[in-house]
Amino acid sequence: MILNKSDLVGLAESFGIPPRETLLLLAHILSTNYTSLFFAKETHIPDVDYRTFLDYLRRHSTGEPIAKIIEKKEFYGLEFKTTRDTLDPRPETEKIIDLFREGYPDTTVSLGILDLGAGTGCIGITILSLYPAAECTFVDIDEKALNIARYNSENLGVSSRSKFIESDWFSMVEGKFDAIVTNPPYVREDYDLRGGTLFDPPLALFGGFDGQRDVHNILRSATKYLKTNGILIMEGLEISGLPYILKMGEFSANDR
Ligand SMILES: C[S@@+](CC[C@H](N)C(=O)[O-])C[C@H]1O[C@@H](n2cnc3c(N)ncnc32)[C@H](O)[C@@H]1O
Repeated sequence: MILNKSDLVGLAESFGIPPRETLLLLAHILSTNYTSLFFAKETHIPDVDYRTFLDYLRRHSTGEPIAKIIEKKEFYGLEFKTTRDTLDPRPETEKIIDLFREGYPDTTVSLGILDLGAGTGCIGITILSLYPAAECTFVDIDEKALNIARYNSENLGVSSRSKFIESDWFSMVEGKFDAIVTNPPYVREDYDLRGGTLFDPPLALFGGFDGQRDVHNILRSATKYLKTNGILIMEGLEISGLPYILKMGEFSANDR
């Protein structure tokens, strides 16, 4: 099958999908990049890939996010595998990394980090990639999510500094950490999900009747697992209905 630019635009229109997203899906299938497809006069698509392409277009036209279809999502410049068992990393969560970097400007310092509710592992793995002497313990209650975090840790070259624990928050966690980083579920249980969120696992989203159950659980125990001057950086405390990043404790890497 050979498609030119106007064939692709027509296909995009028939599925009600923006042409850019159509090219992103095709680029993934053909293992090429968006720019080469954008500038190509014609694109040769093997039959088997064309069938996959139509299937992806159909799925995306029902609202399934591109990240769920191609099973990857970029976070802080790194590429993470994501599946139906993990929350797709969100741009707003990158703020946790920014806060961490503000607190620990010396990237050579050796730190013990706890990533609670790891999902893809995007928070802890990104920190490990920025801090070569840091180690991270990844916790999730869902074994399948933890396996994806393990895969990402290996794929992104930080597995020798990663540990994985299947645990209901702190229940199986031992020791004290320099930093706890977490983006727990914080959606109210009666919230009517829309769009791409419908494809994320409910376990990653819902935090009880007011959305704050897990936030409070973590806040209640966090200080027990933090070293003196340790910090907790958490997304999810709802203030005026907006996600909020909470930073607790004092940064003082030199005093530990
Ligand atoms: C909002 S997602 C965050 C995923 C990832 N950290 C991120 O920021 O993209 C919350 C994660 O917490 C996990 N989780 C939910 N309840 C948990 C519990 N009781 N104990 C540990 N992890 C839990 C979910 O499986 C999910 O992976």
